[in-house]
Amino acid sequence: MSPTTLRAGVLGCGNISDTYLSRARAFEGVEIVACADTDAGRASAQAERYGVRALAPEALLADPGVDIVINLTPPKAHAAVGAGVIAAGKHLYSEKPLGVSLEEGRALVAAAERAGVRLGCAPDTILGGGHQLARKLVDEGAIGRPISGAIWFATRGMEHWHPDPAFFFQAGGGPILDIGAYYVTALVNLIGPVRRVVGIGARGFAERVVTSEGPHQGARLPVEVDTLVVGALEFACGAVVSLTATWDVWAETPFRLELYGSEGTMLLPDPNFFGGATRLSRRGEPFERIEPSAMAHARPNRRTGRGEEVADYRMLGVVDLARAIAEGRGHRCSGQLALHVLEVLLAFDRAAREGRQVEIASTCERPQALGPQDLRWRAAADASAA
Ligand SMILES: NC(=O)c1ccc[n+]([C@@H]2O[C@H](COP(=O)([O-])OP(=O)(O)OC[C@H]3O[C@@H](n4cnc5c(N)ncnc54)[C@H](O)[C@@H]3O)[C@@H](O)[C@H]2O)c1
Repeated sequence: MSPTTLRAGVLGCGNISDTYLSRARAFEGVEIVACADTDAGRASAQAERYGVRALAPEALLADPGVDIVINLTPPKAHAAVGAGVIAAGKHLYSEKPLGVSLEEGRALVAAAERAGVRLGCAPDTILGGGHQLARKLVDEGAIGRPISGAIWFATRGMEHWHPDPAFFFQAGGGPILDIGAYYVTALVNLIGPVRRVVGIGARGFAERVVTSEGPHQGARLPVEVDTLVVGALEFACGAVVSLTATWDVWAETPFRLELYGSEGTMLLPDPNFFGGATRLSRRGEPFERIEPSAMAHARPNRRTGRGEEVADYRMLGVVDLARAIAEGRGHRCSGQLALHVLEVLLAFDRAAREGRQVEIASTCERPQALGPQDLRWRAAADASAA
């Protein structure tokens, strides 16, 4: 291990932990050395599988051999768990959302600043070749001035594939906080922060029945959040983007993430993943398909179950944070970015409940685009766009 390698502990050994534990091996700069879970059996199973130490959560926080904790607990636990990590003097990288309320998100950002530790947060899919390629095209003026755009995802939900899907239908879940986070972060990366949000929310089903295999199969889950949201975002640059986000559709329809500018139209890759082609039409010319390089770490898309392969490098955000410390710069998937995105996402619910436009108080810088200097640590990623 090089002296600049950050030693990481995974807190929360559930569904997504396999992705982090396996992808970590592809990168230099971070080594996962331990894992913990309130369910000790899960921690020891993952520890054995990936050759790391299994610890109790308190022991992980107290361990002097752990520099950064990757928080993979369910959304409702993010704030309390994250606060404990920061109080232990360790850097924190959280899965999204940063918290389930704006207060929780703000408290984490403030605590990290006070403690002088780094706070990073998913989604980090914007660091993938697909989205960096789109960013490069936008920065080069391929679509000119962004005027409008569209976000569309309409799926059946989570209860048919996730083994323990209750949290998706509780505070901190729902299609906006869970999936909308990827779309809004992708657009903030491309065209900057959001100024205003409008929205209408609904719940197509009062309860959801778990059909995925496992101990929760057949369980009836109460729906505590809107599972259909239709709205719009006005960006500080002036672009107005429509949004439809729903888990109330039996047969999934193709996602859409589109930008329409003064010089062209851009169809973006799936922001839930790291790769994928951008389709660009300049001034109404036929669409040109622009690909990043091959997907070295593709896996079947569990969500759709269609067997298609998607590039999944969840860990890149942690790797960038580790490199940022070594290079003395800011990390890209930052607390500020995540807090702004959280405020935007929560604003849809407020707009719907209060029947009004919601102004966004926070702002953020666009994360710095990846450049050739970053290729050396993105060893295994689809980095051709940089
Ligand atoms: N599952 C996915 O495909 C996926 C993809 C991207 C992001 N995420 C995000 O990752 C996070 C975790 O999702 P998941 O699907 O792995 O959930 P999960 O329910 O499968 O796993 C969560 C784990 O955290 C443990 N846990 C709960 N409270 C804890 C605490 N206080 N301390 C320690 N451990 C605790 C649970 O025992 C469980 O093992 C969520 O924020 C989710 O939004 C999940």
